[in-house]
Amino acid sequence: MAALHVYLGATFKTGRILALLLVTGYFMQLVTNCYISLEFWPARNSAKVQEPLVVLVWHWPFHADFTPREDVCLELYAIDNCILTSNRSMYDRADVVVFHHRELQIKTSNLPQQTRPPNQKWLWVSLESPTNTKRIHQLNGCFNWTMTYKADSDIFLPYGTLMPSDRPSNFSIPKKSGLSTWVVSNYRKTSLRAKVHANLSKQMPIDMYGRAAGKFLPSEMLLPTISRYAFYLAFENSIHKDYITEKTWRNAFMAGSVPVVLGPPRANYEEFIPADSFIHVNDFASAGKLATFLMGLWKNSTRYEQYFNWRRTHVVKMSTSWTERLCNICTKFPILPQSKIYHNLHDWFHQ
Ligand SMILES: *[C@@H]1O[C@H](CO)[C@@H](O)[C@H](O)[C@H]1NC(C)=O
Ligand SMILES: *[C@@H]1O[C@H](CO)[C@@H](O)[C@H](O)[C@H]1NC(C)=O
Ligand SMILES: *[C@@H]1O[C@H](CO)[C@@H](O)[C@H](O)[C@H]1NC(C)=O
Ligand SMILES: *[C@@H]1O[C@H](CO)[C@@H](O)[C@H](O)[C@H]1NC(C)=O
Ligand SMILES: *[C@@H]1O[C@H](CO)[C@@H](O)[C@H](O)[C@H]1NC(C)=O
Repeated sequence: MAALHVYLGATFKTGRILALLLVTGYFMQLVTNCYISLEFWPARNSAKVQEPLVVLVWHWPFHADFTPREDVCLELYAIDNCILTSNRSMYDRADVVVFHHRELQIKTSNLPQQTRPPNQKWLWVSLESPTNTKRIHQLNGCFNWTMTYKADSDIFLPYGTLMPSDRPSNFSIPKKSGLSTWVVSNYRKTSLRAKVHANLSKQMPIDMYGRAAGKFLPSEMLLPTISRYAFYLAFENSIHKDYITEKTWRNAFMAGSVPVVLGPPRANYEEFIPADSFIHVNDFASAGKLATFLMGLWKNSTRYEQYFNWRRTHVVKMSTSWTERLCNICTKFPILPQSKIYHNLHDWFHQ
């Protein structure tokens, strides 16, 4: 926290303003989930000349040789004073260095070999679940911040969010021609989701798509195909708190199909989406009971339509661009904890 005040105070001469910032900063520590946009912070805007924040992406996620334009955050997202780069010559100037786990998992020696400039923060980024994340002990004690789908990350990066809509909704439920569907690319017969699917498919029709089913769907056909079904099996590949992926957000919600979820407990889903927007596998004692419920629901359009109540007031927002996610580091920077070390990254992540 001390460093936060120094950072904010640095551009101001008078102690009075510094004191005000101290109080505001303290308040923000208390409401850690509260998002306060940069407009509330005169510091970065009204100062004479503010050095831009430098965010160095050590490996661009999934495209290690991609190079963004330095002013991309301003150009695309109106975030100013923010240099996003993957040019490693900027290492000594970088305020934040970003590490995407996947590339470290491939080669741990991929970490910088130079000494770390004082006060530079290292940020660990991943959207994968712990089940699909190798524990790498060399990473303990390296990172100051995390950015993952886990809600207790320093920067929370959910797969999607519901945002209040600013205009009246013109949504209408897409025309349905089938009861339910499941799109799966990585199918393992022994996985929980495959077992639940196998049991359920004995009780009700489920059209399966994806490589595993021998019916590959090109990405532009994904949503139009799913939208023709009343229910979408939004089954996560592994069960972890907060791990609610594009299967619910995009495949079901954006397609206009009701998600039947297999994932963390219902209460965890309800932290992010309305209780009446989804059906949870755990709410039913058997596959037979779930199938009976779904078939009954489909026959009663009054009840079925209630699962879309949230559409009157909310819209789905998904961030799919790594540039957008990484530019957001600049927005969040002023409210991140200034003194933090992940001494045991994996204990935190896998807990
Ligand atoms: C990387 O940064 C260095 C130092 O600022 C600069 O000289 C060089 O041209 C940059 N390289 C690229 C590919 O932009
Ligand atoms: C809803 O309205 C928006 C613009 O206001 C339009 O682009 C969109 O196609 C409409 N959607 C439907 C389902 O009518
Ligand atoms: C599948 O059904 C069998 C037989 O009813 C049951 O024993 C098993 O627990 C079910 N498995 C899952 C994952 O629901
Ligand atoms: C459909 O569900 C509503 C609300 O639960 C109920 O009042 C109505 O009787 C049902 N209609 C039929 C045809 O079962
Ligand atoms: C960031 O992490 C490094 C490595 O653990 C540590 O040396 C440094 O003190 C941390 N920085 C802050 C400001 O906590």
